[in-house]
This record gives sequence, structure tokens and C-alpha cells, in this order.
Amino acid sequence: MRTLRLAAVTALCLAATACSKDGGSSGEAPASAPASAPAPTDADKAAALAALPAPYNTGDLSNGQSKFALCRSCHTITEGGPDLTGPNLYGVFGRKAGSKEGYAYSDAVKAAGFTWDAAHLDKWLSSPREFLPGTKMTFAGLHDPKDRIDLIAYLKVETGYKPAP
Ligand code: HEC
Repeated sequence: MRTLRLAAVTALCLAATACSKDGGSSGEAPASAPASAPAPTDADKAAALAALPAPYNTGDLSNGQSKFALCRSCHTITEGGPDLTGPNLYGVFGRKAGSKEGYAYSDAVKAAGFTWDAAHLDKWLSSPREFLPGTKMTFAGLHDPKDRIDLIAYLKVETGYKPAP
């Protein structure tokens, strides 16, 4: 009788553990593990978004993507993508401003001296010419703060940003 009950409890526990594991990451991990493989899935992007520091983890990636339409004529964001009027933006987070090899920046950006992070990008995107007078990025600015959050979240997810360890 006692052993039976124990067995039943054990079985329940096992089932519960299995369930919580399936609901967590163990079901996903093996599928997304070959990180070097191309084309992250929507689930990978959702996970990358959730891992961003606040408030960017609340970003709306589809709005960010549609705001990126404002940048697309001058910037590519894919790894190894070409420079257009503006430099390729893959890996821009953590990169020193004006430092992408092979791109001819203005003196203003070359002399900026900071490293791109969300805070700098937020100011830059709200008005590039007010933030760095003399820049040759002719973009009027994105005035809605929530649009900037969404666009920065989108850029983080798409350009290979890795949170600091
Ligand atoms: C009309 C073309 C144009 C548009 C539109 C544009 N940019 Fe730019 N962008 C540039 C140019 C040109 C530069 C180089 C600026 C300089 O050297 O002064 C630049 C530079 C940048 C940089 C600095 C990169 C570095 O390596 O330091 C970032 C970040 C950036 N742009 C993001 C954006 C985003 C995000 C958008 C959309 C909201 C956008 N840009 C829209 C032309 C553009």
C-alpha cells in the first residue's frame, strides 16, 4: 500500500518535472542549438527580444521592422551586407561610432568617441543633426519615443547584439 502510494507520488512528480521542462527551454534548445546555422526562427527572435534589457524587451518587433523602412534606403543590417549611402549596421551595438572599416564617415562621426549602445542610438535617432552636428546622415529623426524603442529592439535582434556577459 505504502509503496504503491510512493510510486504514484513519484510518477506524478516525474510527470510534473517533464511538463515543466517541456514548457521551458529543453524542448527548444536542441532545435535552436546550432547557432551558426543561418536564418533564426521567429521563436529565436522572440527569445532574443525577451533577453534584452528593459525597456527594449517590451519592444514591438513588427513596428520596429516597419520603422526600419525609413533606414533601408541607406543602410543594410545583414551580416557582411554592403555599405550604401550609410554604413552596414550589422554589429553596430558595441562598435565605436564611425569605425566600420571601408566606410567614409563625416569628421563629426569619426570624432564622436563613444561606442554605440541603446542610449546613444536613442538620441541619435531622435535627431541625428542635433545630436552630432556635422553628420552627413540626412534623416529628420524619429520623434515618438516608443517607435525608437521598437526600432532599437528590432536592430538589437537583427544585428547580432549580445548582452554583456
Ligand atoms: C538618407 C540616408 C540615411 C537614412 C535614411 C538613414 N541613415 Fe543612418 N547614416 C547615413 C549616413 C550617411 C551615415 C554616416 C554619417 C556620418 O558619417 O556623418 C549614417 C550613420 C548611421 C549610424 C552610425 C553608424 C556607425 O558605424 O557609426 C547609425 C547607427 C545609423 N546611421 C542608423 C540609422 C537608422 C537606424 C536609420 C533609420 C531610422 C538611419 N540611420 C537612416 C545615412 C542614412
